Amino acid sequence: MSVLFSFLLLCLTPSLAWGEMQSAFEPKGNNAAEIADIMWVLFVGGSLIFVAVIILAGIALFGTNAQRHVLARQELIIGGGIVFPVVTLSALLVYSFASGAIHIGRNAAPQERIEVIGELWWWRVRYLDSRGNPLFETANELRIPVGRAIEVLLKSGDVIHSFWVPNLAGKIDMIPGHVNRLQLHAAAPGVYRGQCAEYCGAQHAKMAFYVIAQEQTQYDAWLSLQAQPALEPADPFLLHGRQLFLDNRCGQCHAVRGTQAAGQIGPELTHVGGRHAIAAGTLPNNSGTIAGWISGSQQIKPGNRMPSFNQFSGEELRALAAYLESLQ
Ligand code: CUA
Repeated sequence: MSVLFSFLLLCLTPSLAWGEMQSAFEPKGNNAAEIADIMWVLFVGGSLIFVAVIILAGIALFGTNAQRHVLARQELIIGGGIVFPVVTLSALLVYSFASGAIHIGRNAAPQERIEVIGELWWWRVRYLDSRGNPLFETANELRIPVGRAIEVLLKSGDVIHSFWVPNLAGKIDMIPGHVNRLQLHAAAPGVYRGQCAEYCGAQHAKMAFYVIAQEQTQYDAWLSLQAQPALEPADPFLLHGRQLFLDNRCGQCHAVRGTQAAGQIGPELTHVGGRHAIAAGTLPNNSGTIAGWISGSQQIKPGNRMPSFNQFSGEELRALAAYLESLQ
């Protein structure tokens, strides 16, 4: 019974913690709905069998002699012990495999492809054209159009990670040297939280991301904006921030298209100000959290590859953060 209780608790905890935004119990797309159906069929079926077995065990232990004689009959042992499990488990196996296969086979040649690469501890995201060439790179956030199945190509740059947006799709590993594929489908606009689901080191828990499902017209506008380089700011304060960004060699790790910054080690920042969160879902995105992250990234996410830059004055930090926030 305690196993059943722990299982229930385990299932409910993420659901309660994140509500609608990150929960396999609240499917918001076709694939997630199929997974939820499989889960309920297996859970209800397993529970019924569990209750039946407990009743039979109760009779065996505490029943009268007549009742125990019924249990000991050969037909019951062969029927309940061999035929029933073979038939039931085979049926469930076929059912779950058939449903699972749909997630990989549907949309053999999708128009839209996104490549997501797991890094320590963030997500490199590349939007691809129909031939598979990159259109642009971004990080820690995916936007998808509502109602269309998008193929996500999952890779890893270092260790095994796992890509999981419970509201939209199943969980699948990102394995170095291998490409896994997953269909993402959202039935309604919304912001859905995803999480690395394979322990990948000290900051595994702070390796989250967001999938934002938008209507097609909004999505198209976002797509064309992302392909543009960053605009040079007119405001002197923001220009000061931009200069600090370039002078302090932030561009050795980060790229901002339209500037000399072309680093490939860390997240691409051309339109970082328009993202939902920073540091892979760790903090909300505003100039305060950006300033905090620059000066104390090793305190916020110890062991990540960005050192804490604590050489800036308060004024410099504000300018730098304001510039990054302005990159919409
Ligand atoms: Cu990446 Cu856990």
